[in-house]
Amino acid sequence: MKDPLAKIPAAPGRLPVAGHLPRLLRRPLGFLGSLREVGPVVRLDLAGRPVCVATSPQAAHDIFSTHGRHFDKGRLFDRLRPVLGNGLITSNGTLHTRQRKLLQPAFNHAHLVSYTQTMARRAEAFAHSWHIGDRLELYQTLLDLTFATAAEVMFSSESAIDVPIAQAMAHVNAGILPQALLPAPLARLPLPPNLRYQRATRQLHTTIDRTVNRYRTEPTERDDLLFALTTARDDNGQPMPDAQIRDEVITLLLAGSETTATVLSWTFYHLGRHPQTEQHLTEEINAVLADRPIEHADIARLTHTRRVLQETARLHPLAVVMRRSNASTTIDGTAIPQNSEVIISPYAIHRDPNLYPEPLTFAPERWITQPAASLPKGAYIPFSEGTRKCIGDHFAWTSMAVILATVLRHCRLAPDPHHHPRELLAAHPHADRLPVTVQPPLHQTAG
Ligand code: HEM
Repeated sequence: MKDPLAKIPAAPGRLPVAGHLPRLLRRPLGFLGSLREVGPVVRLDLAGRPVCVATSPQAAHDIFSTHGRHFDKGRLFDRLRPVLGNGLITSNGTLHTRQRKLLQPAFNHAHLVSYTQTMARRAEAFAHSWHIGDRLELYQTLLDLTFATAAEVMFSSESAIDVPIAQAMAHVNAGILPQALLPAPLARLPLPPNLRYQRATRQLHTTIDRTVNRYRTEPTERDDLLFALTTARDDNGQPMPDAQIRDEVITLLLAGSETTATVLSWTFYHLGRHPQTEQHLTEEINAVLADRPIEHADIARLTHTRRVLQETARLHPLAVVMRRSNASTTIDGTAIPQNSEVIISPYAIHRDPNLYPEPLTFAPERWITQPAASLPKGAYIPFSEGTRKCIGDHFAWTSMAVILATVLRHCRLAPDPHHHPRELLAAHPHADRLPVTVQPPLHQTAG
C-alpha cells in the first residue's frame, strides 16, 4: 500500500515488518527526543502503520491551536473508548463542544475555592497520619491522596466506592499506552495484561453506574461534582444521559489523579536532591501561611512554589499526546494529508536544549529569567493548548500547591539517596519506585 506520508522525512533505524515499533517500545522517551535531529515533522512506521511525530514547538502549536480544527483525537483515544466511552477526553465535534460547556462551570473560581478546602483537609489528614521515621512509597502514597481528593470532590458521600475504583483505575492506567501502541490484534489477545485491562474496565463501569443510579433515585442536594452533572441541563434544557455522566466521571477520575500524583512525586524527589530549593520553598510557605491551613487566596502568593511545580511539570509531562487529521493541513510548513495519525511529545519538546538551556537540570529559577510567556508558542505544553486544553489545569495547579505546602509544613519526604528511579513506560511516565523517609520539617532542623 502506498504510504501517504512518504514525503515526510523518516526516522532512522526502521526494521523490516516491525518498522520503528521495537525502538519506540524499548526506549520511547529517548527515541522520541532523538527525532528532533531529523526535522520538525518525522515519519515513523509502527509495524506497517505510518505515524508522524511533531518535534518542534511550532508543529505542536499548529496541531493544538493554529489548525486545531483540522485534528480530532486519534488512535490512542479510539483505544481508550472502551474505558472512557465518549467522555471529554475521547469525544469529538459537537458532542465535545456541548460537554465542555456543561462541565466548564464545575471548574470555575467559586468551585475551586471550595475544592481547595477539601484538598487541604485531605492533605492535612494524610500528612498527620505519617510519623517521623516512617518509610513511604511516594508515588503510591500521593496517588492515594490525589485519588481520595478527586473522589471526594466528585461524590462526597460515597467513600465506600473509593477502593474498588482506585484498584480498577490502576490497572486501566497501566494498560493505556501499550493498548494504544500495539497493533489491534495483539491488544485483543487473551493475555494477562489485556484481560486485566478489560476486567478493570467492567468493574469501573458497574461501580460508577450504580452510583449514578443512586444519585438519580435519591435526589438529595449534594455539594459535589456528580450532583452538578446529574442536574446539568444543556441549551435545550435536556439532562445529560446516565451513560454520558458515567463516561465523564471516569474521565475526570482517570485524567485527574495519576497526572497530579506523577508531577507531585517528581517534585518531592527533586526537592530531596536540591536542599537549597527546599529550604527556600519552606521559608516561603511558612511566611505566607504562618500556622493556619492553606486557603485558595494564598496560592497566588506562593510564587516560588509555583516555579518549582512549573519546572517539575516541564521535566515530567505526558510522554505523548495523539491526534488524527480530519482534513489535509500543514504543520510547521509540512503538508499532512487527511487521516494522518500524529504524535506530539510534550516530554521531548520540554527537554529540547534549543528551548531550555541545560534541559535535564531541575532549575525552578529558570522561570524568573525565562517566563513561560517569553517562550515560543508550543514550547511549554504540560496541559496542551487550544480547545482541547486540560479542563483541570487550575484544579491541578491548586491541588499540587495545596499538597506541597501542607506536607512541607508537617514534614520532609526525603528520597532514599541510594535509589535511582527509573521512568516507567506510561502515558505520564512516573518512577518505578520512589522510597522516601518521613523527616522533621526543614524550618525545625535548620532553626
Ligand atoms: C498535573 C496534572 C495534569 C496534567 C499534566 C494534565 C494534562 C493534560 C493534557 C496534556 C491534556 C490534553 C490531552 C490532549 O490534548 O489530548 C489534558 C486533558 C484533560 N484533562 Fe488534564 N492534566 C492534569 C490534571 C487534570 C485534572 C486534575 C483534571 C480533572 C479534575 C483533568 C481533566 C482533563 C480532561 C477532562 C481533559 C480533556 C479536555 C478536553 O479534551 O476538552 N486533568 N490534561
